[in-house]
Amino acid sequence: MKAVIFDLDGVIVDTAKYHYLAWSNLANELGFTFTEQDNELLKGVSRVRSLEILLEIGNITLSQEDFDKYAAKKNDEYVKLISELTPEDILPGVKDFITRLKKSGYLISLGSASKNAVFILKHLELTPYFDSIVDGTHVSKAKPDPEVFLTAAKNLGIDPKECVVFEDAVAGVEAGKNASMRVIGVGEADVLSNADHVISTFENLSLDVLEA
Ligand code: BG6
Ligand code: MG
Repeated sequence: MKAVIFDLDGVIVDTAKYHYLAWSNLANELGFTFTEQDNELLKGVSRVRSLEILLEIGNITLSQEDFDKYAAKKNDEYVKLISELTPEDILPGVKDFITRLKKSGYLISLGSASKNAVFILKHLELTPYFDSIVDGTHVSKAKPDPEVFLTAAKNLGIDPKECVVFEDAVAGVEAGKNASMRVIGVGEADVLSNADHVISTFENLSLDVLEA
């Protein structure tokens, strides 16, 4: 293995709680309740698709103009919340793991659906660790399409078969497998059953996990 590609939300930082807050406020405004369980459906999913799912749950149809307005409104609130992120919000063990990867000569890329990824990495002070950043502004096809990960491999000049992906979302695990990469799930093994291996935390994680 020569390169490691990290998903952002749910792998490097727990932003799901902020997405949830912003989406549930929007649902309240539209007159229905959006639960934390509903929020699971939005993990790894693009902003536009997330709003479509939310509206399906609320059984609401919007004009294109209103759809765009609400998507922008949700993002404005989300951006306010993530502006408060600091390096302390990096999930346990992640920074140490990335530091060891760099020392051992692995190339590192981000592979995220988020259009706020550059902003978030900056707040976490992690930008300099990445040799490539591929996010929602660079790709047209959402996970489980492999585009985001294949673009990362191409940027790094590495064969996809020599890349390892870390992902917390089912659609993201699929995307990694569709890119012919080794995929390590971050979360629960029964949920991420298609991953090659599943970890629950980066704390004290050996680099051997890349090759196992
Ligand atoms: C993914 C998140 O990383 O990015 C999704 O898991 C989110 O929940 C998606 O909807 C798009 O994010 P953003 O920041 O562009 O709205
Ligand atoms: Mg994720």
